Amino acid sequence: MKKDLGVKPYLFPMPVLMIATYGDDGAVDVMNMAWGGICGHDMVSLNIDDDHKTSENIRKRHAFTLSVADIPHIEAADFFGIASGNKMPDKFERSGLTAEKSQKVDAPIVREFPLTLECEVVEDKMEVYGHHVIGRIVGVLADTDVLDEKGYVDPTKLNAFVFDQFQSGYYAIGEKVGQAWSTGAPLMKK
Ligand SMILES: Cc1cc2nc3c(=O)[nH]c(=O)nc-3n(C[C@H](O)[C@H](O)[C@H](O)COP(=O)(O)O)c2cc1C
Repeated sequence: MKKDLGVKPYLFPMPVLMIATYGDDGAVDVMNMAWGGICGHDMVSLNIDDDHKTSENIRKRHAFTLSVADIPHIEAADFFGIASGNKMPDKFERSGLTAEKSQKVDAPIVREFPLTLECEVVEDKMEVYGHHVIGRIVGVLADTDVLDEKGYVDPTKLNAFVFDQFQSGYYAIGEKVGQAWSTGAPLMKK
């Protein structure tokens, strides 16, 4: 039996993305974003409420970085989704995290997050659903300790967690249960 839950933005998992930008004064701002993701080989898509400091910063600087938050920094990651740089000028400093300037884009890199995409803005529009930004990935930085022996990112080393849109929980990512383009392959031979 199924129950109709109405119209809800219900998907699972949702990512926990850390969007880092510079303000006019060079102040670092970071926001927590679930409604974003990959939308092309070298493109990411962001949906931002227009009143966020991040929205203003992206319009002015045309750049941002997008990091995967990890469990050791979950308190700061959630805080970045509660506080606004508009009302709390020292938002980033309060988090206790540190940042350095990207070599490739006009945006900060949060040192403590394990994986960061450096992005330049290629599309910036107001849509019926809000401020929509497309960024081109111009660099990817990973901590060496999240890489496997071949140099690929090992998801089990990322300590990443996901967001639950139903009840606002954060969940650790569990064990590996299959291999894409392989687990289903036996059915191709039927
Ligand atoms: C788990 C989580 C996910 C969020 N996802 C989004 C999102 O996708 N888009 C958005 O505009 N705000 C999102 N927010 C809210 C912003 O992170 C929050 O309003 C933040 O204070 C904005 O910071 P800023 O004003 O410094 O940019 C999310 C917050 C949390 C806690």
